[in-house]
Amino acid sequence: MPKDYSPFTPGQPVPVEFFVGRLSEIEKLKQKSAITVKGKLQVAFLTGERGIGKSSLASFVRFIAEREQDVLSLHTFLGGVSSLEEMARRVFDRLLKESIGKSWENKVKGFFGNHIKQVGLFGISVEFGAPERDLRRIVHDFAPALRNLIEQLRDQKKAILLVLDDINGLASSIEFANWLKSLVDEIATARQPLPLFLLLVGLEERRQSLVSLQPSLARVFDVVEIQTWSKGETEEFFQRAFSQVGVSVKQEALSLLSRFAGGLPVLAHEIGDATFKVDKDDKIDEKDAVNGVIAAADIVGRKHLEPKVYQAIRSERYRSILRKIATMPFDIRFKRSDLPARLNAEEKKVLDNFLRRMRKLDVIRPDPDGGRGAYRFGNHLHYLYFWLEALRAKETRE
Ligand SMILES: Nc1ncnc2c1ncn2[C@@H]1O[C@H](COP(=O)(O)OP(=O)(O)OP(=O)(O)O)[C@@H](O)[C@H]1O
Ligand SMILES: [Mg+2]
Repeated sequence: MPKDYSPFTPGQPVPVEFFVGRLSEIEKLKQKSAITVKGKLQVAFLTGERGIGKSSLASFVRFIAEREQDVLSLHTFLGGVSSLEEMARRVFDRLLKESIGKSWENKVKGFFGNHIKQVGLFGISVEFGAPERDLRRIVHDFAPALRNLIEQLRDQKKAILLVLDDINGLASSIEFANWLKSLVDEIATARQPLPLFLLLVGLEERRQSLVSLQPSLARVFDVVEIQTWSKGETEEFFQRAFSQVGVSVKQEALSLLSRFAGGLPVLAHEIGDATFKVDKDDKIDEKDAVNGVIAAADIVGRKHLEPKVYQAIRSERYRSILRKIATMPFDIRFKRSDLPARLNAEEKKVLDNFLRRMRKLDVIRPDPDGGRGAYRFGNHLHYLYFWLEALRAKETRE
């Protein structure tokens, strides 16, 4: 029977009912939101590696803030946006879309005045359509605009949670860095409070980039960093997801799945989804898990990696080295000196090329703590993908 309902959601922020872990981060963000409700500005930067669950956590916190704290929350994705005007347009467009069907819809529409555009076939959806000139004003008067908004919604909402996600383009913009600093200063020194919780979401490099453009921002951001799940949390995730759809998982299979997911939620979803599809009898045993992991290797490579890394790791020339590496202890650090004993003459010849290539692609980096010839993987995604491919090379021996 084809399986049409997978409990896994690779590539999308996780639905609330499948959300696992992050208890201390949730608590911290919830407290900040509670402070905002009292009228005090809060600014945080939610950071962590690719695929670790930043957007999902932000979305979970939004859910709680809306439900438990009467906070108006707007989650705006700004991937590829590099201008402040476009940022403002997207934030207000989000506000408009978020308000459709809510008891406060008309108030928000009133707030927008004649800047609402009917779009789509038969004008069934609306869009925030302010001209460039007005957008520049909104950027400039951002704090008063939000103050005005919360004033209009005061019977329904106590504060605003503004999530600016995927700020890769903006993080290298000096205008954005300065705008942020001025916004924070302006709110802090204003006579009227503004109950705003500004939550920026991005990789650590982005935070550093903003701080290097505007050093005072270092003090402004309260950093919340997400780490990989523990083994227990990873197993809980698989256990819960499979049991939702009536699929049982043997303990050996569970250990294998969580070992290869390595605590990285994005991989847990891909591996879970692939295993779910491979399985035929609603019972996941070790063989299903191995086949699932192998199937996931290809999907992860195509979907989540830079094409150059994907191609390099899959290249015929390097597969035999990978096969041997697969027999080494599964670790984010390794030493070059542990490799040659496992390799034949041909493989030894290309080993340095292989390592150089991996370094150039930033898959591995020299590990200063380990001394000469010591390496560590640059991030969990590369590290785990490397092992998925190593397992695949070993299991599918040509
Ligand atoms: N706490 C969680 N519980 C269950 N699944 C999660 C959790 N966090 C993230 N995921 C899942 O992991 C994947 C990656 O999550 P998400 O998109 O939130 O990560 P991210 O850190 O924002 O990634 P990126 O750096 O690419 O923006 C998604 O498929 C999501 O559903
Ligand atoms: Mg994200």
